[in-house]
Amino acid sequence: MRKVELQGASSPENELTLATNPSAIPNGIAGLDLVSGPVGKPSRHESAIQHVTGAARYVDDLIEPANGLFAAVIRSPIARGTITRMDLEPVRKSPGVVCVLTVDDVLGHTDIGPVFPGDPIMTSTEVKFFGQCLAVVAATSELAARRAAQAAILEFEREEPLLDAREAVASQQLVRPSHVMTMGDVDSALASSHQVLEAMQEVGGQEHFYLEGQVSLAMPTEDGGMLVYTSSQHPSEVQKLVAEVLALPLNRVTVDMRRMGGGFGGKESQAAQWACLAALLASKTGRAVKLRLPRQDDMIMTGKRHPFANSYRIGIDEAGRITAADIEVIGNCGNSPDLSDAIVDRAMFHADNAYFLGNARIAGHRAFSNQVSHTAYRGFGGPQGMMIIERAMDDIARAVGKDPLDIRKLNLYGTEQSEPERTLTPYHQTVEFNYLPQLIEQLETSSDYRARRVAIRQFNQHSPILKRGLALTPVKFGISFTLQHLNQAGALIHIYTDGSIQVNHGGTEMGQGLHTKVGQIVAQTLGVELERIVVTATRTDKVPNTSPTAASSGTDLNGKAAQNAALTLRQRLVEFLAAEKTVSPEAIRFENGRVSWGGSEDMSFAELVQAAYVGRVSLSATGYYRTPKIWYDRTNARGRPFFYFALGAAVSEVVVDTLTGEYRVTRVDILHDVGRSINPAIDRGQIEGGFIQGMGWLTTEELVWHADGRLLSNNPATYKIPAIGDTPPVFNVALFEHENDEATVYNSKAVGEPPFMLAISVWSALRDAISSLSDYRLSPDLDTPATPERVLKAVMAVQAQCAQNGMTGGAV
Ligand code: MTE
Ligand code: MOS
Repeated sequence: MRKVELQGASSPENELTLATNPSAIPNGIAGLDLVSGPVGKPSRHESAIQHVTGAARYVDDLIEPANGLFAAVIRSPIARGTITRMDLEPVRKSPGVVCVLTVDDVLGHTDIGPVFPGDPIMTSTEVKFFGQCLAVVAATSELAARRAAQAAILEFEREEPLLDAREAVASQQLVRPSHVMTMGDVDSALASSHQVLEAMQEVGGQEHFYLEGQVSLAMPTEDGGMLVYTSSQHPSEVQKLVAEVLALPLNRVTVDMRRMGGGFGGKESQAAQWACLAALLASKTGRAVKLRLPRQDDMIMTGKRHPFANSYRIGIDEAGRITAADIEVIGNCGNSPDLSDAIVDRAMFHADNAYFLGNARIAGHRAFSNQVSHTAYRGFGGPQGMMIIERAMDDIARAVGKDPLDIRKLNLYGTEQSEPERTLTPYHQTVEFNYLPQLIEQLETSSDYRARRVAIRQFNQHSPILKRGLALTPVKFGISFTLQHLNQAGALIHIYTDGSIQVNHGGTEMGQGLHTKVGQIVAQTLGVELERIVVTATRTDKVPNTSPTAASSGTDLNGKAAQNAALTLRQRLVEFLAAEKTVSPEAIRFENGRVSWGGSEDMSFAELVQAAYVGRVSLSATGYYRTPKIWYDRTNARGRPFFYFALGAAVSEVVVDTLTGEYRVTRVDILHDVGRSINPAIDRGQIEGGFIQGMGWLTTEELVWHADGRLLSNNPATYKIPAIGDTPPVFNVALFEHENDEATVYNSKAVGEPPFMLAISVWSALRDAISSLSDYRLSPDLDTPATPERVLKAVMAVQAQCAQNGMTGGAV
C-alpha cells in the first residue's frame, strides 16, 4: 500500500480539522484522524470486480418487467426547415407496434429546456437541427420499434442551415445574450504596450462516447405515478421534467440511478429527453417502456462539447509579460440554450488559465446554429477558454525569442508572498494559495525539461524529416458550480442492527469513484471498515432536490453531506455509550470496527449498534452541506465564484513526421494537485483518464458536419477516440503533496475535470515541433483537433513562410 500521497499522514499529531459545525463534533475522535482508517488508502473502486466481470448492472441489464415495451425515435433527416407532411400511419401499422406519440399527445409541458426554454421534447412543425426528435414509437420488441420508426413518411420544406458560429455572432443570432468581464483599462494598456499580438483559433467539439449510451426504463406505478430507471447525472432534474411532461406533482415520480457507464457531462441535462419519452409512452400504454438509443442515434441526437471560435489581442512588454488582453470566445451552442450560458461563462472564467492579465476584457458569445444543442463535457467550457491563452503563451514566446516555459512562468499569477499585486482575476476573485510556481518548478525538475529541451533542439537540427516538440502547460481550474444554488448536497445513512451501514447521497456514480470515496469518508467518520458500507443507488425518494453530479464537485458536496450525517450518528452513539458506561464522551474511540471507552474493555461496532437499538436510539440520519464563501454578481462580473482552484501541470513530448503530418506522443509527465487525496488510486485513474480524453479531443476526435447540417462522423468508424495503443509509452503521473487550504472534506480537492486540460500540453508540443522548422521564429496556426492533416497543413504553411522570407529552418 502506498502512503506517500498523504503528506504527514503517519504523524500522530495530524488530527483532522473539521470545518463544518465544529461544535457538533465530539472531542478526541480517533477515527477521524488519518493515522488509521480507509481515507487516504488506494482502495479499489466499489464496482471494480463487477465492471471487469460484466456483473455490474446498467439500465439495459435490468430484468425486464412483464409486458414491457421497447421504444424507438423518429428523427429529422434535415437540419432546418418546416415539416410539410408527417404520415405516421405506416408506423402504426408496423408489426408489434403498440403506441406512437407526437408532441400533440403530451398532456403536460412540451418544452424540456433545463434552464431556459427552447428544447421541445418533439416537434411536428419547425425543424432546427439534424436528428431532432419528431415522434416516438413503442413496440413489443426493440427490433420491431426500430423497424417501425423507419416507416414514417416525412416531407419538408428545407431551409439553408446556419452552421458557422462567427457568422452567427456577426448577424446577432444568439441563444443567450453576450457577456463581458473587465479589469482595468484594456484599450489604453494595449495602446501603450511594447508589442501587440493577435490571433484567431478554432477549437473543435467532442463526442462524449460514454460506453453506455443514453437509456431509460419507465414503469407506471399504481397511483398514476412513474418509476424511472435512467442513466443520468441529474436524477432530480429527470424527476422534475418527467413530472412536468406527465402533468404530475414531483412526489409521484421517483428516479433511480445505480450507475452510468460514463457520463462525462453528456448525461447532465441530455439524459432527460429519453426518460421523458419513455415515461410518456409508459403513461399512455400502462406498460413499462425502455428507450435505449442505438449508438448512431445517440451520436446524432445528443449534444457535444461546444466547438469554439476564439480570438485575442494581447499587449506585452519587452520581456514578454502580458500588460493587456482583449479576448473573445464564441461558443457554438447549437439550436437552444441548454446549459450554454454557464458553459460560455466557464470558458470566460478560464480564458486567463493560470496567468495574470493585467488589464483584461473577456467577451463571451453564445452563437446559435442549426446543430444539436451542445452541452456539458468534462471541463464545461473551461478547456475551450484555456486554449486561447495557451496559444497566446506560445505565440509570445516565438515573438520575443524565449522558451515558452519561461513565458508561462513569467506570466503566472503571483502568490500572496511574492507579487500579491498580481493575484486578481478578470472576474475580481483573488487567487489564493497559488502553488503553481512551486508545482511547475517541481515538474520542470522531475521531467528533466531543460536537458530535454537542449536534446530536442539538437535532434531537430540533425533530423530533416522527424521533428520533436516539447511543452509544459499548467492548469488552474475553478471549483464550484458557478450557479450558486447548485452548491449544496444531502445524504442519508442507515445503520442496521447487525452493524452494517447503507449510505445514500445526492451524487451519481459514473465510473469516477464517487461512491467509493463517500464510502471511505463514512467509514472513516464512524471508525469502521470500508467493507461494512454499501452505497446504494441514487434515488430521488431517498435524498431529494439534488444537484447534478458535475463541476467535479461530487465528493466535495456529497462527501461532506455524508460526513455530516455520519457525525450525527456517531454523536448519538457516543452519548448513548457514555451514559451506559458512565464515562466521559471524550474517552470513547471508534476504530477499525471496534469501540473503546478507556481502560481495557471494548466492544464491536455491531454490539454497540445492537445495544443502542435496544436502548431506543435512532440509527438513521440525514446530512446536509452547502459550500461556504462563494458568491458572484454576474451583472457586474465580479465576485468569488470558486471556493478554490485545482492546480496541475503536464509536460508532453511529441515527434512529428513532417512529410505526412503523423505524430506520436512519446512521453508525458504530470504533477497534479488533488489536495490530500481521499483515494490515490482513484485520483490517479481520474488524472490518467482525463488526460487521455483531453488528448483525444485535441488530436484525433474530429466532428464533421456536412454543409447541409448532417453529422457525418456518427459512428466509431468515422470518429476516432484514443485507443489503448495511444497511451504514451512513458506516462509518469504524480500527486502534488499539499492539502487543500480550504476546509473541504479531509482537505481534498476535486479531480474529475481539471486533468482533462493537462492535455493542452500535447497540442502545444505539436506546435513546438512545427515551429522548429522556422528555428522557433514562427508560431504556427494549429486549429483543433490537430489531426495529421491539420499538422501537415501547418508544417507546409511554416515551410512556405520560411521560403518566402528567406529564413533557414532548424534543418536542412
Ligand atoms: N470519470 C469517469 N470514469 N466517468 C465519467 O463519466 N465524468 C467526468 C469526471 N470523471 C466522468 C469521470 C465529469 S464531466 C465530471 S464533472 C466528474 O467526473 C463528475 O464526478 P465528480 O464530481 O464526482 O468528480
Ligand atoms: Mo461534468 S462536464 O461537469 O458533468
